[in-house]
Amino acid sequence: AQLLLLHGPNLNLLGTREPEVYGHATLTDIDADLQARAAEAGHALDSLQSNAEHVLVERIQAARTDGTAFILINPAAFTHTSVAIRDALAAVAIPFIEIHLSNPHAREPFRQHSYFSDKAVGVVCGFGADSYRYALDAALQRLPAGA
Ligand code: DQA
Repeated sequence: AQLLLLHGPNLNLLGTREPEVYGHATLTDIDADLQARAAEAGHALDSLQSNAEHVLVERIQAARTDGTAFILINPAAFTHTSVAIRDALAAVAIPFIEIHLSNPHAREPFRQHSYFSDKAVGVVCGFGADSYRYALDAALQRLPAGA
């Protein structure tokens, strides 16, 4: 099956960005790790990072017709602000898992609301780069039969 991995704003800086909060893995490390794991399981994974809300909205819209069976998304700061990305995910009706490196519930109050969690199949947060691995494992378990 085709999986789509999306990363929101500032995640291009992973590795150097507040490493005490987000860890030392770079986005390239995370993408390469998930790509290899998806390929090993016989699936394809496409990934995109953007700092721009509309780019993420347009990529999600494109997923409706490009065969994407499952979306993994770390919306980053858009988690707490973006009705537009939430609506795009609802519009394409592709199952998705919400991912965070940190545990937003243990941080500032404004990070404790997500526009995504109530629509997600599940949420994985607080495990650093491993959050992405656990989310991929969960997605692989839930791919439609034969996909
Ligand atoms: C984040 C948590 C968000 O609150 C924050 O804005 C991010 C990263 C995480 O992965 O821990 O940019 O999504």
